[in-house]
Amino acid sequence: MGYNLLKGKKGIIFGALNDKSIAWKVAEKAYEEGAEFTLSNTPVACRMGEVIELSKKCNAELIPADATKVEDLEEVYKKSMEVLGGKIDFVLHSIGMSLNVRKKRVYHDLDYNYLQKTLDISAISFHKVMQVGFKLDAINQGGSILALSYVAAQRTLYGYNDMADAKALLESIARSFGYIFGRERRVRVNTISQSPTPTTAGSGVKGIDGLMDFSDRMSPLGNASAEDCANYCVVMFSDLTKKVTMQNLYHDGGFSSMGMSMRAMTQYNKSFENEDVSTKY
Ligand SMILES: NC(=O)c1ccc[n+]([C@@H]2O[C@H](COP(=O)([O-])OP(=O)(O)OC[C@H]3O[C@@H](n4cnc5c(N)ncnc54)[C@H](O)[C@@H]3O)[C@@H](O)[C@H]2O)c1
Repeated sequence: MGYNLLKGKKGIIFGALNDKSIAWKVAEKAYEEGAEFTLSNTPVACRMGEVIELSKKCNAELIPADATKVEDLEEVYKKSMEVLGGKIDFVLHSIGMSLNVRKKRVYHDLDYNYLQKTLDISAISFHKVMQVGFKLDAINQGGSILALSYVAAQRTLYGYNDMADAKALLESIARSFGYIFGRERRVRVNTISQSPTPTTAGSGVKGIDGLMDFSDRMSPLGNASAEDCANYCVVMFSDLTKKVTMQNLYHDGGFSSMGMSMRAMTQYNKSFENEDVSTKY
């Protein structure tokens, strides 16, 4: 049951690929909360079909766009304002991809062309989404813009590779543009730093199963699911968070504030049980 938190609000949701996607869950929740919105993803993702199902279910127009292309983004805003009948109140940037991760290039052997693409797709596209919206004056006063991040922006986590650099840039862009958008348009800009989550993008990360288990054991509330994340996004789009801006908001069951938990320590100690002490140093 919804609370009508987004009744009357118009939005754009980027990045729903399949029913595991965080953006997919956000679309379902936003719909439940009374919002009207459009969906956008790459032309290939739109053709693949699953997102068409979501667009029917949420009565949302699907607008293909490569988020690294300014012309495509202009089209997304123009079409969205046309079909929704006015300016936009909320935008979700739920986009990430690293070819270095996909092609298993390790951090000390990066392909620099891939690195440029990682940064463009996963971080600079957020600047483009905001700059296009700003220039077209497409975002309503009191609006809310969100992107999704990960704690690897602050701390090194094995296997996260060049996505860590992309997330650090993403969070910086949120602060820098958050200042301009707040000052000029009374629009807020934040990032949500989500627990590791079993999605298509998430499963590309090296050792994701171990990482998810570790962070679950470390977090007093356990890992946050995609659905939990969608609930938080809805609150951030609602009028209940009007003065929250330029923040990186941890949504991770407490992981980011932990050093060692009892559950993680118990598991760690088990690895010593059969070990020959003489080999330890
Ligand atoms: N899954 C996790 O563990 C996790 C944790 C923290 C943050 N995040 C972030 O959440 C966001 C959503 O990822 P997800 O986990 O739901 O995975 P996902 O694979 O479902 O979503 C990633 C989306 O990015 C889209 N995309 C890729 N290149 C694009 C481009 N050029 N233009 C437009 N769209 C493009 C994909 O089509 C896909 O829909 C990403 O920013 C990701 O880094 C994920």
